[in-house]
Amino acid sequence: MHHAPTLGADPERPLYIVFVGAGAVGCFYASRLHHPSHNIHTSLIARSNYATLAANGVSLQTHTFGNYTFTPSSVLPSPSAAAAAPHPWDFVIVTTKALPDRSDDATLIAPLVSPTTTILLIQNGVGVEAPYRRRFPSNPIVSGVTVISAEQITPGTVRQNRWTRLHLGPYSHSADLDAESRVDSHLESLGLAKAHQIGDYWTRLGGIKDVEISDELDLQIIRWHKLTINAAFNPSSVLSGGRTNADMVSDPELRSHLKGVMEEIWEAVPTILGGRKFGEGLASPERILKSTERNVGGRPSMLVDWEAGRPMELEVILGNPVKIARGRGVRLGRMEGMYALLRSAQGRRDGEKGKGKGKGKEEGKL
Ligand SMILES: NC(=O)c1ccc[n+]([C@@H]2O[C@H](COP(=O)([O-])OP(=O)(O)OC[C@H]3O[C@@H](n4cnc5c(N)ncnc54)[C@H](OP(=O)(O)O)[C@@H]3O)[C@@H](O)[C@H]2O)c1
Ligand SMILES: *[C@@H]1O[C@H](CO)[C@@H](O)[C@H](O)[C@H]1NC(C)=O
Repeated sequence: MHHAPTLGADPERPLYIVFVGAGAVGCFYASRLHHPSHNIHTSLIARSNYATLAANGVSLQTHTFGNYTFTPSSVLPSPSAAAAAPHPWDFVIVTTKALPDRSDDATLIAPLVSPTTTILLIQNGVGVEAPYRRRFPSNPIVSGVTVISAEQITPGTVRQNRWTRLHLGPYSHSADLDAESRVDSHLESLGLAKAHQIGDYWTRLGGIKDVEISDELDLQIIRWHKLTINAAFNPSSVLSGGRTNADMVSDPELRSHLKGVMEEIWEAVPTILGGRKFGEGLASPERILKSTERNVGGRPSMLVDWEAGRPMELEVILGNPVKIARGRGVRLGRMEGMYALLRSAQGRRDGEKGKGKGKGKEEGKL
């Protein structure tokens, strides 16, 4: 390196970043990562809100940073439009909803991925990285887990209600979902270096104070711990007839069910993650239930998607964990039950829609 370390990218070598999925999470984190004066240039690939973003940028209403407008380097209508850029993309950051049963997003981003591209996923659930690793065997992949409360309230307007926590770590596994995990040490150290690089931009330039970088196994621990919350509350909210989290924990029968789901994952994790347990620092099921009592108002995203007739992240929140656990000889019985019921309910809903005109819209979105 000819240059002393600077705060931003190499002054002579611009850094190009593109987000795929310009929704709540994508717009918020992109807006904290666009620093042209430090030679970091961030673009968005948008779909339904493309016209609004192209005309006006993103309007952000944030709890952490106040209100501001984010004007990205470019707003692009599709991956193929982004692939026509006259430079390779250094980072492709995927912030779509993870819907592997509906959309193969690893194939979607293929035109954007050059041999030097780092792929970063910021999504809920587990097993989200595997399709990317299969499709891109030698690119660094960074796995991201965020604790944030954000929503796109109208097209092009994103509100962050609270939290900014972002955990990043490498994902090197060459294995399929249910095979023994195999960590590739070269890809792991490359991914770790990329996680540090981008995490540093978010922290030092973007002002996000709680970016944490972990190694591969620790990141998976964090991912599975976040799953205990998502897998317990999201499906139960739909199956209980549309109740909020705080409302559910006030019902003794539901509270015991939620605790059961969390404990089921808790007990299975050492078998799934090669002997590793959730550490002392991670909130216990009882603590999660207790803090949920105070968290009134918020509606779980799966309930919002269910009521809007949109696909739910069922596969990555229920299907993948159930299958990964089975591959290790563990049954997640409560989750298997919720998975079967919700998959069926979603299929019935969409089948009924197929007789009208809703189905065509869903197919059009693939
Ligand atoms: N929101 C939160 O508070 C929160 C918190 C923690 C974790 N997460 C996780 O973060 C991930 C993203 O969630 P989100 O809340 O940001 O979802 P979201 O607001 O629905 O945003 C997803 C965006 O991806 C776009 N998209 C999907 N497929 C696309 C494609 N093929 N081409 C271009 N754009 C595409 C969607 O466009 P359309 O409008 O055209 O559908 C939408 O703008 C999820 O895994 C979620 O579980 C969210
Ligand atoms: C941001 O905008 C919202 C909506 O217009 C408004 O309610 C809020 O007070 C604004 N916040 C700040 C810090 O200006």
